[in-house]
Amino acid sequence: MPSIADQLSAVLGDAFASLELPRELGRVTPSRQNPEIFPFQCNGAMPAAKLAKTNPRELASRLLERLHGLPQIGAAEIAGPGFINLRPADHLYAERAAEIAADERAGAPVTGAPKTVMIDFGGPNVAKPMHVGHLRSSVLGDSLQRLFRFRGDTVVSDIHLGDWGLQMGHLITELREEQPDLVYFDADYQGDYPSEPPVTIEDLARLYPQASAKAKADPARLEISRTATAELQAGRAGYRALLRHFIDVSVAALKRDFAALGVHFDLWKGESDVDPLIPGLVEDFKKRGVAEQSDGAWVVRVAREDDKKELAPLILVTSGGASLYGTTDLATILDRKQSVGPDLTLYVVDLAQSDHFEQVFRAAEKAGLAAEGALEHVKFGTVNGKDGKRLRTRDGGTFRLADLISSAIERADERLKEVGLAADVGAEEHDRVARMVGLAAIKFADLQNYRTTNYVFDLDRFTSFEGKTGPYLLYAAVRVKSLMRRADEAGVKPGKIVIEAQEERDLLLALDAFGAALDQAIENRAPNAICDHAFTLAQAFSKFYAACPVLVAEDDAVKASRLALAQATLKQLELSLDLLGLEAPERM
Ligand code: ARG
Repeated sequence: MPSIADQLSAVLGDAFASLELPRELGRVTPSRQNPEIFPFQCNGAMPAAKLAKTNPRELASRLLERLHGLPQIGAAEIAGPGFINLRPADHLYAERAAEIAADERAGAPVTGAPKTVMIDFGGPNVAKPMHVGHLRSSVLGDSLQRLFRFRGDTVVSDIHLGDWGLQMGHLITELREEQPDLVYFDADYQGDYPSEPPVTIEDLARLYPQASAKAKADPARLEISRTATAELQAGRAGYRALLRHFIDVSVAALKRDFAALGVHFDLWKGESDVDPLIPGLVEDFKKRGVAEQSDGAWVVRVAREDDKKELAPLILVTSGGASLYGTTDLATILDRKQSVGPDLTLYVVDLAQSDHFEQVFRAAEKAGLAAEGALEHVKFGTVNGKDGKRLRTRDGGTFRLADLISSAIERADERLKEVGLAADVGAEEHDRVARMVGLAAIKFADLQNYRTTNYVFDLDRFTSFEGKTGPYLLYAAVRVKSLMRRADEAGVKPGKIVIEAQEERDLLLALDAFGAALDQAIENRAPNAICDHAFTLAQAFSKFYAACPVLVAEDDAVKASRLALAQATLKQLELSLDLLGLEAPERM
């Protein structure tokens, strides 16, 4: 059964169609004015009247006539210039409630046309610590993969490690300076390389900044790193063996970090994995005239006449013979086409890379690697400090993701102590709860904004148990869980739902809106609609719980009905939290 809103939309759509007007104009939305009497409205009569060149109120009254006596309609009236206010029939509430309660998806529809969706997110760079920009990509990308999977698409997510650029040359050069005798640097060496890595993750974390600082200060040193990068890319065996070690060491550490964040990837591929595809791709681009020669380099011209600002050509191969970021992205598109065959690929990457993706997408389309519209840059904005500028550490450096997460968990721990939560669950469980609260705080704060909005990183606000925050939502779920436990102890079982009180109606309508929130989140590639939904649901539950006592209700049928409504709410709230990558503890 569709949602109440969709059932009303269908009925209204029929009414419009019967007057030879577009069915879509019958779309019904929740009403803000007087929702207690008329929870829904349809605004289609105004545009319809324009089409039919008649008066909107008069058209609305003709539509109303068609609604008369229909089983879905409780009441309908015309307001203002031609708004149609609607109240669903009472039986719709009870039917929908029974359905949501019985459905393991809590009323969420499944897509009728499942697709294969590739999601490219995370994008950490080997050896460079992850920063706050990578947080947004990870949190947003993870929520998107959950959303698409939940509605029934096949999702393949790929971390797309940055493991092919200059940073690798930096690492090689710096390591060579520290340990010149390592066998990897002996160009004449013919044997097998050791399987033990010559570096730890701590070494990498130290070597990269050292090298990059030296290269900044000294152009000659930068040139050495460049040469090392080119030799690596050209296949120098010792350097390839080192690259493998660097990647393995980094990936082991990244796997721990992402597991701690609760973020999962299907594929742990990197830029270097598609290197074998590059020569063939370049040849093919040249042969078909997709790539042109320009000052010794090979480029793909992607500018279009109607462009507002000039888009530079994509550099496929530099005059020095190196491949660049755009080259590996194109080769990755080819690789994915051959191995996954996605209908849609989403790149969850910083807005600052907009031009890069525009170049890559146009070049891919030009070469026939992807259909128009099949590659999409899901852009996001910056995380700022309280000064409104990009978040920086006190000494002006970039914020490491790991530090950010641990400070959120620490702040969550203090908060729990301040408000006396998770106080008598044991030290170990307390730490687990603090972790969940801390992660929920930063994830929710990130996701609740529309993705292109910049936001200010404010742990005090994010970790508050009041207001629209992750911790508030976890606490809301924990409250219902505790109610369910107490009901169980008292032997109360959920039963047939009867909707009587206004608060029950409101709660049911909040539950009814889940599918619409999902649609919106998917359509915009932005989970903020789910954040809004979870918050509205938690608030509606809280009002319901205050007005409609469950375990102390006088009548057993009433107890059972209210408990069933609470159970359905918990199920949908937990599904919503899961879509955001949040997890609620049993107690707190
Ligand atoms: N490694 C890149 C960075 O840190 C992000 C990679 C994004 N994905 C892609 N296919 N280019 O900026």
